[in-house]
Amino acid sequence: MAKIAVLPGDGIGKEIVPQAIKVLKTVASKYDLNLEFEEGYIGGEAIDKVGKALPDETLELCKNSDAVLLGAVGGPKWDNLPATQRPEVASLLPLRKELGLYANLRVCSLYPELVGASTLKEEVVKGTDLVVVRELTGGIYFGKKYREKVEGGEKAVDTLEYTTFEIERIARTAFEIASKRRGKVTSVDKANVLESSRLWRETVTRLHEDYKDITLEHMYVDNCAMQLIREPKQFDVILTTNMFGDILTDQASMLTGSIGMLPSASLGGEVALYEPAHGSAPDIAGQDKANPLATILSAAMLLRYSLNCEEGAKEIEKAVSQVLKDGYGTGDLAQEGFKVVGCQEMGDRVNNYLLGEENV
Ligand code: IPM
Ligand code: MG
Repeated sequence: MAKIAVLPGDGIGKEIVPQAIKVLKTVASKYDLNLEFEEGYIGGEAIDKVGKALPDETLELCKNSDAVLLGAVGGPKWDNLPATQRPEVASLLPLRKELGLYANLRVCSLYPELVGASTLKEEVVKGTDLVVVRELTGGIYFGKKYREKVEGGEKAVDTLEYTTFEIERIARTAFEIASKRRGKVTSVDKANVLESSRLWRETVTRLHEDYKDITLEHMYVDNCAMQLIREPKQFDVILTTNMFGDILTDQASMLTGSIGMLPSASLGGEVALYEPAHGSAPDIAGQDKANPLATILSAAMLLRYSLNCEEGAKEIEKAVSQVLKDGYGTGDLAQEGFKVVGCQEMGDRVNNYLLGEENV
């Protein structure tokens, strides 16, 4: 039996997670997986109900599960809280840290049917298939922060630090992933300016000795931002720091047509976490408009990495592709000839393919 902690969170989290659970249940029955789902509070809802964005019992639940499926957190209701108590920061960051999830994988592959949904030209985006391996428990997100009074106002400090150990383990993840893909790693840093980036580059270069079959290139982050838009097909695996990875993955999501298509897996500890890369989208919450595919595809990653069910993962990915081929999509995917459907119908259509039932 495998236990899955389910944390829908806020906003559209409540709509997209049930679609992914539906799909997971179908796969589980097909592959004889005995899955148990247990829900927990996280984010703004947890602040309202328990007074804390990441309640102790939620953390316990996660630690005692085989995998965590998370929706999204945050919303206008909690935007006026002091920055360190806001749901995004006060739940996601400690959850990642507590579970030791140092490796965040975000997959950007463009389904051919969505070429028209991208804001970029077809000849640029067609064939895009890359993975960003983002360091997730270090760097400027977790370095010492403080404020102090100085003449004329205040000084605010964030510290960007990386150790050899932290760089080595994430680089190893990137090389391993590249060895199962097209064998290329682009390590992204700002080594012309930052000391931590110089250590990053030296360490990645040294580790590369163990992965001679992989092609390694280094790229400055500003150049990478440009290259992602200029020629995304040059990338296979992008290896980068916490903050650069945060920024570059939002940018890269548009290569897939919509940020609503970007799944993620956070690995490295005993229990892995799966969540869409997008946020809680309060503007469309509760209206059955959200795109559930990033969450459904995150569930596929859960099957792949936590439950060792590669076939089930592939089946979900194929079902998503079939629904898109049929010309159905949520509003964010709208393009000529596409039929716009709601979140629930999108989930049903994927599920029907898995059940072998006809979609009408
Ligand atoms: C992400 C998000 C988070 C991050 C925020 C909400 C703290 O943007 O997962 O990309 O910066 O890591
Ligand atoms: Mg982000």
